[in-house]
Amino acid sequence: MKLTLRIWRQKSGSDRGRLVEYAVADVSPDMSFLEMLDVLNEQLIARGEEPVAFDSDCREGICGMCSLVINGIAHGGFRGTATCQLHMRHFKDGQTITIEPWRAKAFPIIKDLVVDRSAFDRIIQAGGFVSVNTGGTPDGNAIPVPKQASDSSMDAAACIGCGACVAACKNASAMLFVAAKVSHLAMLPQGKVERERRVLEMVRQMDAEGFGSCTVTGSCEAVCPKEISLGFIAQMNREYFKALLKK
Ligand code: SF4
Ligand code: FES
Repeated sequence: MKLTLRIWRQKSGSDRGRLVEYAVADVSPDMSFLEMLDVLNEQLIARGEEPVAFDSDCREGICGMCSLVINGIAHGGFRGTATCQLHMRHFKDGQTITIEPWRAKAFPIIKDLVVDRSAFDRIIQAGGFVSVNTGGTPDGNAIPVPKQASDSSMDAAACIGCGACVAACKNASAMLFVAAKVSHLAMLPQGKVERERRVLEMVRQMDAEGFGSCTVTGSCEAVCPKEISLGFIAQMNREYFKALLKK
C-alpha cells in the first residue's frame, strides 16, 4: 500500500506545531498502525530527517501508551480497538490519513504525537489504591466476593489509562477513567474500607488537573478501547454523593 500521511509535528511544548505531509510506501495491510509509523520513521531516518515521536509500549492493547487521533477520532474509531491493535487493512491503498496527538489542556504536548499524561498518575496517587498490608498471597477463596461484583469490578479494571476518553470529550473530561478506577475498587471487599476517602480525593485531584466536567455526551464510551461503560460514571457519582453526605 502507498499512503499519504498528514502528521502533527511539534518540536516541543512551546513550539506552534503544524501538520506535515509525508508519502509512505511499502505498507503491508497486515501491519499494525504503529508498525506503519515505524516504516515511515525508517524512511525518514534513511533520508536524514527527524523521525516522528509517538508513544507505544506493549503493542498488544494492554499498557495504554499508544495515543493517536486518527482522522479525527481517538484510536481511529474501531470499536474496542487501541491504536496498536488497528491494522492497515482497514485503510485503502492511496488513502490520506491525518494523525494528531491527544488534545486536552491537562495533557500538554511534549513532542510531535507524544503528550504528558502524568495527570492520570497523580489521580491514581491521590486514591487509586488499597492501603493494607496484604502479606503473602492469600487463598483465592479466603474472602468471598459475589459473582456480580467480581464481574463488574473486572469490567472496570479493564481500563488501561490511555486517555482516549479525555481526547474524545468536548469538555476534556476524565470522568470515564476516574469512574472506572473508583468503581473497580469500591465493588471489592478489600477496597470498601477506603471508598469514601478514595472517591473524594480522586475527584479533587481530577478537578485540580484541569479536566473538564462530564455532560454525558458519551463520546468517551464510543472511543474507549476497553469499552468501559458510561454506567460507571453514574456509579461514581453515587459513590461521591454518599461520601459527601457521610463526611
Ligand atoms: S476509560 Fe477507556 S478510554 Fe478512558 S483511559 Fe480507560 S481505557 Fe482509555
Ligand atoms: S501500545 Fe500498549 S495499549 Fe497500545
